[in-house]
Amino acid sequence: MDSRLTVVDHPLVTHKITMLRNETTDSSLFRSLCQEVTLLTAYEALRHLKTEEVSVKTPVTMTRAPILAGPAPAIVGILRAGLVMVEAILTLIPNGRVGHLGLFRDPETHKPVEYYKKLPADIDQREVLLVDPMLATGGSAVHALDVLTAAGCSNIHLLSILGCPEGIEAVHQAHPSTQITLAALDEKLNENAYIVPGLGDAGDRIYGTK
Ligand code: PRP
Ligand code: URA
Repeated sequence: MDSRLTVVDHPLVTHKITMLRNETTDSSLFRSLCQEVTLLTAYEALRHLKTEEVSVKTPVTMTRAPILAGPAPAIVGILRAGLVMVEAILTLIPNGRVGHLGLFRDPETHKPVEYYKKLPADIDQREVLLVDPMLATGGSAVHALDVLTAAGCSNIHLLSILGCPEGIEAVHQAHPSTQITLAALDEKLNENAYIVPGLGDAGDRIYGTK
């Protein structure tokens, strides 16, 4: 497999993704599952984080032990659906800085439309974890990567719950060095640019808007 792509292969993740796919799963459970899958997937995506040794006094003795070496990564969520992933990752990296990028897909063209942007001032000095549950055509991810690259970011990792070959190809075409971690890799897009078999519209299912 392409070294720029990691698909988490773990029974806990596949079980939870099957529950996400199920159309009878309600919004409350859907949100919880998105957060749980994000935690398990981020655990893989953040495996390379650097550590440094510090002195620590345990109740037994002084010792040297590792902590994460700073600066903490920036977590950038693509609104709306990426918000649940941001909240989950903040439980792992509470001192992470958070950026928000508001994008929606035009229903006709399926191209992303930007409506909001707020990034940490020093984002160019941080590793960036870009999060969005769905990597479909890849248009939203590519737009976000364009914005982050223009802001000076050079080390960007994309984390999604579901992806498909078309989205991966689009991201690597536009931003060849981007590492992608997915909880699951689906088969294809349908004629409405939805992932198949997929889970439907992530934002609507998270927020109960349909
Ligand atoms: C969804 C999803 C991604 C995008 C993926 O958002 O959360 O951002 O579609 O599709 P793409 O890879 O083809 O760009 P949507 O546009 O539905 O907005 P929402 O999160 O506000 O519902
Ligand atoms: N956005 C979604 O929420 N779901 C898809 O399948 C494709 C884009």
